[in-house]
Amino acid sequence: MNVLLIGSGGREHAIAKKIKESHKVTNFYAIPGNPGIASLATIIGDKQDCSEIVAKAQEYKVDLIVCGPEQPLVDGLADMAEAVGIKVFGPKKCGAIFEGSKIYSKQFMSKYDIPTSDYKIYRNYEEASRYIDKRVTYPVVIKADGLAAGKGVKIAKTPEEAHEALKLFMVDKIFGESGSSVVIEDFMTGEEMSALYITDSKTFLPLIAAKDYKRAFTGDEGDNTGGMGSYAPHNRLNDELRKEIDDKIIKQIRIGFAKENIDYRGVLYVGLMLTEEGPKVVEFNCRFGDPETQVILPLLENDILEVFSKCVNAKLAGYELHWKQAYSACVVLAAGGYPGHYEKGMPITFKNNHPYDFIHAGTKMKDDGTIVTSGGRVLNAVAVASSKSAALTAAYNLLEKVTFDGAFCRTDIGK
Ligand code: GLY
Repeated sequence: MNVLLIGSGGREHAIAKKIKESHKVTNFYAIPGNPGIASLATIIGDKQDCSEIVAKAQEYKVDLIVCGPEQPLVDGLADMAEAVGIKVFGPKKCGAIFEGSKIYSKQFMSKYDIPTSDYKIYRNYEEASRYIDKRVTYPVVIKADGLAAGKGVKIAKTPEEAHEALKLFMVDKIFGESGSSVVIEDFMTGEEMSALYITDSKTFLPLIAAKDYKRAFTGDEGDNTGGMGSYAPHNRLNDELRKEIDDKIIKQIRIGFAKENIDYRGVLYVGLMLTEEGPKVVEFNCRFGDPETQVILPLLENDILEVFSKCVNAKLAGYELHWKQAYSACVVLAAGGYPGHYEKGMPITFKNNHPYDFIHAGTKMKDDGTIVTSGGRVLNAVAVASSKSAALTAAYNLLEKVTFDGAFCRTDIGK
C-alpha cells in the first residue's frame, strides 16, 4: 500500500513511526513533514493545500492519505480525494465540522442530549456584549466558532476579560472570520480526559484515554498551549467510567451520525471534563490529539495500516484493538516565549548525537544538515515503561540529552 501522511508536527512524527512499523506499507510519502518524518518517509511536497495534496497523491499512486491536522479536513481534503478514488483516513467536511464549528458541535450535543456545559451563541458583537454586562457567574468560557490553531478559547475570570476577548474575536478579528461568531459557555470544573475513538460512524473503537497538560508552565500556570505533555493510560480510566462515557456520549453520537447521515471515517477526539455530575464534553476534534498521539500509539499493538484500512472501508465492526500493558509519557520541550512570541532558527544540540531518539515537532533541517528550531513546541521526549512513574522518569531523563537557547519544559507532567 502506498501511503501519504499529511502534517509536520509531533503527532505526525508519532503516526509516521507507527506506519513505518507496518507490514502493509510499500511506499511511504509525506507532505510537508519535518526532519523526524523525513527520516522515515519521502517528502513529496511542502504545501498543505487540498488540491496540491490530491494532485501529488495521484502522481505518486497513493492508496491511502492519512491526515494529521484539522485544517485540510475542514477544507474538504477527504471529499476531494474520494472524488478521484483515493481513500483518506480522516472525515469529510460533514464530519470535520465537529471541530470546524464550535456552534455546530454544541447544537449537535443539544439535539442528541450529549452532556456538555450550558451555552449561548452570538453572531453579533453588541448582543454578546450586552449578555456579558448581565452575566453574574465567572469564570466564563468564550470560544471562537471556527478554527484558530488551538488559540480560540478564552477563560475569562471577570466581565472585563470577557469584554476584551469578545472585542479581540469579534471586532479586531484576530482569528479572521473564525471569531465573528462565538460560543459563550459555563466554565466546568473537574479533571480533563482525552478520549479518542477510531470510527467508521457505526463502530467506535476507543483508544487508550490520555491526559494532556494544556497550560504553558509548571503548576498549570500560564496561557493555554497546544499541549505541553501527556501520559497514558489516564489515571481515572476504568471499566465503569468507560461504560458511562459509552452510554451517555458515544451511543448518542452514533445515533446523531445516523440521523444526520454523517459518514465519519477517522479519529473522533472527544475532550472530556470529568465533573461531579459525570463526564461532559468540552470539545470535539476531527483528528488525533497532539501530544496525546505521542503516548497512545506506542501502546497500540495492532498494525496501524490495518486499523486505518478497516476504518476507511467501514469494516471496523468486530475488529479489536490490543494494547501493551504499559504506560507512556511525553514531555514537550518548547521555545522560550511560547505560546506567545518565540524565536526560530535556534541550533539544537543533541548530546548523544541521536536526533531521532526524540519526536520532532517544530524542527527544521538546514542545508548543512544541522537541525534548528522552527516552531513553539520543538521536540517531544517520549518513553514507555512498566509503570507511570518509570515512563515519566525516562522521558525527563531523555530531555537531559538535548538543548537549545531558551528551551523550557513543564516539570510536573504526570504529577
Ligand atoms: N492536545 C489537544 C489537542 O490536540 O487538541
